[in-house]
Formats: sequence, C-alpha cells, structure tokens
Amino acid sequence: MLIFDHVHFYYQQEHPILDDLSFTIEPGEFVAMVGANGCGKSTVAKLMDGLLLPKQGHVTFGNLETSNPEDLVSIHEKIGIVFQNPEDQFITTTVLDEILFGLQNIRVPREEMDQRVEEALHMVHMEDYKEAMPHHLSGGQKQRVAIAAILAMRPQIIIFDEATSMLDPEGREQVMKIMKELHRQGMTIIHITHHMDEVLFAKRLLLLHEGRIEFDGEPATFFETVNVTDYQLEKPFSVRLHQNLHLNTPLTADWKEMIRSEWNAN
Ligand SMILES: Nc1ncnc2c1ncn2[C@@H]1O[C@H](COP(=O)(O)OP(=O)(O)OP(=O)(O)O)[C@@H](O)[C@H]1O
Ligand SMILES: [Mg+2]
Repeated sequence: MLIFDHVHFYYQQEHPILDDLSFTIEPGEFVAMVGANGCGKSTVAKLMDGLLLPKQGHVTFGNLETSNPEDLVSIHEKIGIVFQNPEDQFITTTVLDEILFGLQNIRVPREEMDQRVEEALHMVHMEDYKEAMPHHLSGGQKQRVAIAAILAMRPQIIIFDEATSMLDPEGREQVMKIMKELHRQGMTIIHITHHMDEVLFAKRLLLLHEGRIEFDGEPATFFETVNVTDYQLEKPFSVRLHQNLHLNTPLTADWKEMIRSEWNAN
C-alpha cells in the first residue's frame, strides 16, 4: 500500500505546491491522476518514488518510508517511473545495455540478468531489438524500451508521468495496451495524463487542485459530476458522445464498442 499522509511540499517556501495531501493507493489499482498544468502532478510522482522528500508528513510504501535514507534503494526498486520524453531516459548505446544498466544499479546477480532482460523485452514486444540503438527507434518503441528497463527491475508500481504525451496515436495505443496488460497481471499502475480519453481505462481518478485531492472516484462519475473546464481539462470524445446521444450503455474508452453495444441492446 502506498500512503501519502498529510504531505506538504514546496520548492520555494513562499510557493507551497502540496498542502496537507493525503491518499492511499492499494496494490493492483489502476489510478489516473489529472489536473491543470503546473498543479503538482510530477511533484507527486517524484515524492512517491523518493526522488523528492516531503517537507512535512510521510510517504510510505509498506514498511518503507521515503524519508529513511536506508529505504530508498528498495523504494526505487519497487516503484518505477516512466517519464514524458523517451529521449531523456537513455543513458547507454543499445537497448540491451540500457536494461542491463538498471539491473547493475540494483545489483542483480549476473546469472539472473539474461532472464530478466528477455522477460522485460517480451512484455513490451521488443525482443527483436536487443542490439538496436535507442536513437534509431520510433518514439513509441523508445518508450517501450524505457518501460522494459523498469519492468526488468520487477517493480510493484509503475508511474507513467505523461509517458504518452509525446507519442503519435499508434505509439500511444501501444503504451496504453502495455499498461492495461500489466494491470491485468496485477501490477499497480499510476497514469498521469492530459489525454482525457486515456483516463477512462483507469478504475479510479484523482484530480489534483491547489495542492489537494479535489476528486477521488470513478472516471465516469468524474465526467458526470465535475465541470472539467474549471481545471483546464476537456471531456474526451467518448464522454461527449455518451452524453449527447443519451446512451444507456456504460461509458467506456472505446466509443465504437459503446455504440455497438447500444445498437445491440435496441
Ligand atoms: N525544480 C523545481 N524548482 C522550482 N519550482 C519547480 C520545480 N519543479 C517544478 N516546479 C514548479 O512547481 C509546480 C508544480 O510542478 P509540477 O511539474 O509538479 O506540475 P505538473 O502538474 O506535473 O505540471 P504539467 O502538467 O505541466 O506536467 C509548477 O509551478 C512548477 O513550475
Ligand atoms: Mg508534469
């Protein structure tokens, strides 16, 4: 269980970013986090992983706490972050080395490495690209390698911080598919995004506003009850379709599927 317990955070004391923020994420959840530009989403992601530390309050994962220096290595191993720009995430020259680099950092025994690399590349369908140079890959492929490098660490939580925002529609779809598959296998997924259609894949949505959680609930309820433009957000296409056509079928991310099931019910 990941717990934010009365967390306060600022970069400069006169500009508080997070103000007494508390929430809990249970193992296996698929949570979307949204909010206006600059409201502090990436800050929350970095606090989760111990890359930033709370000024007051506690961030804990099981019996580990980010403010305990001796817990940080375990926390980095258990909680991985995929960032926005795939270019910024590569340190080495081949896909294989990129994944090995992370494993060496957490001191995985040599004899265990090959299997972890194979497994991780298989999960993102990049097993044929082991010797490829990251800068020759497409944006979506790069992001899949970044995900594989994290998967090889066998984390319990993966945070995607706008990880789809620089990708073309095909790349985004591939990354969303991987997220759904990892969730299906039991991993905890936290997806920070500006793409409102993607939040419909999550089971729970957190809206961050002025340093606090303003909404915590199901995405469908969020779009029914919250005036999203107040938070610089938009209703996704499938929500507009669902509301404008007064569909009876449940709201889903896949609008074609929604129309099909409405059609079949009539
Ligand atoms: N290293 C830093 N030093 C000082 N201020 C920072 C730093 N990083 C972020 N900020 C400020 O803190 C606030 C929250 O930033 P953060 O990146 O967490 O927001 P965000 O919700 O992720 O934004 P976006 O939607 O643009 O990704 C912003 O006002 C930002 O300018
Ligand atoms: Mg951000």
